[in-house]
Amino acid sequence: MNRATLSTAKRPADLPALNEHIAALPPYNAGLSLAEAQRLGGREDMARLASNENPDGCAPGVLAALTGAALEPWRYADPSCTALRAALEAHTGVTADRIVIGNGSEEMILAVIRVLLGPGRDLLTVLPSFGLHGICATSLGAGVAHVAMTPQGGFDIDGLCAALARRPAMLALSSPWNPVGPALDAPALDRLLAAADPARTAILFDEAYFEYADPANRPDALTMLARWGGHWASLRSFSKAWGLAGLRVGYALCSSPALAVAVTNAKTPFNVNAAAQAAALAALDDPAWMQASVARCAAERARMAAALAGMGLFMPPSQTNFLFIDLRRDAEPVAAALLREGVIVKPWREPRYESFLRVTIGTAAENERFLAAMRKLA
Ligand SMILES: Cc1ncc(COP(=O)(O)O)c(C=O)c1O
Repeated sequence: MNRATLSTAKRPADLPALNEHIAALPPYNAGLSLAEAQRLGGREDMARLASNENPDGCAPGVLAALTGAALEPWRYADPSCTALRAALEAHTGVTADRIVIGNGSEEMILAVIRVLLGPGRDLLTVLPSFGLHGICATSLGAGVAHVAMTPQGGFDIDGLCAALARRPAMLALSSPWNPVGPALDAPALDRLLAAADPARTAILFDEAYFEYADPANRPDALTMLARWGGHWASLRSFSKAWGLAGLRVGYALCSSPALAVAVTNAKTPFNVNAAAQAAALAALDDPAWMQASVARCAAERARMAAALAGMGLFMPPSQTNFLFIDLRRDAEPVAAALLREGVIVKPWREPRYESFLRVTIGTAAENERFLAAMRKLA
């Protein structure tokens, strides 16, 4: 049967219905592929500022680990990620029996949500949001409620506390916040924890951008969550500051060994491949590389924010490797024009936020290209 025959084949009317929760899902907006962006922009050379990847690459030791003789692609990788969990115990202070490794932290979002949500067990999150939190909840038949950011681009702590009083099954938010940029400080996290009933509400604390947050203002969230006492998981990623987005490795720090067992059982067994495990171990061996990359990003972010503010544009203060810029007009045509200038960015698509562009902090040259294009389009 050729392709045409396959796609036009008649379907019997009595096929089983798709899972109603899955059928109702919106697609995740993963943005344009490089090839599509090149086609739409009519050029090959593109500054890729849409996916919050690390423009510095990764530590040299990672590349060595990926080509070293110790990597045996013909063997199944350790399903327990024993060496990586031990290294993360040393790195985070959380014991290995509370750590679960995922095929990217996105896999851990789904696994934690599978453990704790379902029909009638609903999610509370923020708006705008990292879409996967709501998508994973919806896929299980859970409802999703949102509290919008303040006009200043901050977390609406009063609004979140009021919503927590209704005792949702889970509060999920990213801090630092994708796509907005700020991180919760200790007093704000304290207020949320005081409002969340540990007997009824679990917390998914998504820290994919943890390493970018200013250490001077970063709350000791793990200690605060432990003191609070409910079910919680802090999710971290090797995709951002560590530069391993293409290898897919992230992890969940769980409130208890029992929750970690449940999260482990909620994922597939051989979920983290051998290259990803070796690369993450090598990355952890070189924290100085990561810290230098984060420092370079912070300096470029400040330079970009000042230049954009100089153009009269508003953006919330960011503790991440991106900026969320309010253009005060539909961001989609601006993003299309930026493609023609050789820059890929992410126009935000959630209702009420369509005037925002999310732009990753790139290399100095990439950022310059973006700023020059913005001046031209102003
Ligand atoms: C807030 C947040 N959480 C989780 C992820 C997923 O990251 P990964 O699966 O690459 O670890 C992302 C990716 O952009 C993110 O922004």
